[in-house]
Amino acid sequence: MYNFKGLLFHLSISACLIGCSDEDDSPDIEFQAPIAIEATSIGEDGFTANWIEVLSADSYLLDVSAEEDFSAFVGNLQDVPTSGSSYKVSGLEDNTTYYYRLRAVAGSEVSAFSNSSQVRTAEMEEPFVPVDQPDIPLKDYADFPIGMAVQAGRMTALYDQRLSGEFTSLTAEYEMKMNIMYPSSDSFNFEQADAIVEYAEANDMQVHGHALIWHNATPSWVTNFSGTNQEFEQMVEDYITTVVTRYKGRVRSWDVVNEAIEDGNGQLRNSVFLQKMGADYVAKCHQWARNADPDVLLFYNDYNIEFDAQKQQAMLDLVDDFIDRGVPIDGVGFQMHISYNFPSKSQLESITGEVVNRGLMVHYSELDVRANPNGTLTQLNDTRAEEQGAKVEEVVSIFASIPTDQRFAITVWGLRDSDTWLIDFWGNPEWPLLFYDDFKPKPAHTGFLRGLGWQP
Ligand code: G3I
Repeated sequence: MYNFKGLLFHLSISACLIGCSDEDDSPDIEFQAPIAIEATSIGEDGFTANWIEVLSADSYLLDVSAEEDFSAFVGNLQDVPTSGSSYKVSGLEDNTTYYYRLRAVAGSEVSAFSNSSQVRTAEMEEPFVPVDQPDIPLKDYADFPIGMAVQAGRMTALYDQRLSGEFTSLTAEYEMKMNIMYPSSDSFNFEQADAIVEYAEANDMQVHGHALIWHNATPSWVTNFSGTNQEFEQMVEDYITTVVTRYKGRVRSWDVVNEAIEDGNGQLRNSVFLQKMGADYVAKCHQWARNADPDVLLFYNDYNIEFDAQKQQAMLDLVDDFIDRGVPIDGVGFQMHISYNFPSKSQLESITGEVVNRGLMVHYSELDVRANPNGTLTQLNDTRAEEQGAKVEEVVSIFASIPTDQRFAITVWGLRDSDTWLIDFWGNPEWPLLFYDDFKPKPAHTGFLRGLGWQP
């Protein structure tokens, strides 16, 4: 890449050497032409033209042509007034060679033309035409619960057809969290949670409660709690007792404290719960949930414990401590926000085995498989869709090899690709789930079936 400042400095010095007079050191130089450099951000219909600025220029005049001799210009792209050191050109043909040049302007003076820079626009991608997949319900081939993250507002007919047709477990994507169910210190809101639990009961599906305590879904009145630490702890105990009691016998399991461990260092996350209740707050929350319902299954749930070594060790230390002290815990939730090419099969097998060896249940609790982790794709393609399907098959096969009584569920974090949280989170196109936006199954769905033992 160009060291623009260094180049500008040399340009001004060389200009000065050409034009400096003995009488004074102010350069009376010929007005320098800019230097056009390679285009960037090259797409199907345009690119960014770049150049080295001229120190004394006020502005520039840009030409874009499909002719190397600039005998004709593209549309109105002749003498386009601009400033700075780049200009975004759009509205061009794909897979076509273009040339650009420019002149510098300072007051009434216009420099000579710069050199010409050549660029070829990207070839238009053919629209992705999905290959039809077998439309076979996942639950027909599963001997463990298959879960889906749901929202009360997304229980319409087309969703209902897939939810009740394919899945046997539901997790509220956000409506059973504290910021929704306990919006203010004097009011609860169980409307959406009740709707989800009632839908599950009507369709003979289990409900996994997510999540009693999560730093990212804590209402502001809790984050900014005005009472003493003792009052805070009592409030948390009362909340957990109220919620778990309300859904006793209706919600099979709970993520008690979600994501309590920091990334990359294995420390407890410095949440308001840690600050006001101390390091044993996770154990306290587990005990309070158990006190409210002796039969509910209690999980510790987190992300990146599929591959972050420090986080893995911290999770295992927490689990071992709970087991040693008799703190109630029934399983570990691996969120499984993974990619088509990461983490590896051996990484997933290894950490899953650590939890299985401790006699706990395993929940792959929020499965999505990024097809576009580097943000390079603007649309899905057959190759990547098949690679994604192979990763899903791998994940399901690993889970299916766990001893039967330790397989809690695999829960997919969204139904259709456009339902995913990942698009907003990463800001690039993404297709991480099992169904296209028209509710038709993807190769990822076929991979899931294969992992369950289905064969064509
Ligand atoms: O549906 C409402 C809409 O009516 C309203 O206009 C809009 C603006 O207020 O909010 C919409 O609800 C949003 C909801 O997602 C549905 O899009 C909530 O504000 C928003 O907070 C919620 O975000 C959820 C997030 O957790 C926070 O609860 C995401 O859906 C959900 O995918 C995400 O899931 C988390 C897991 O719980 C824990 N692991 C990480 C995972 C991803 O962050």
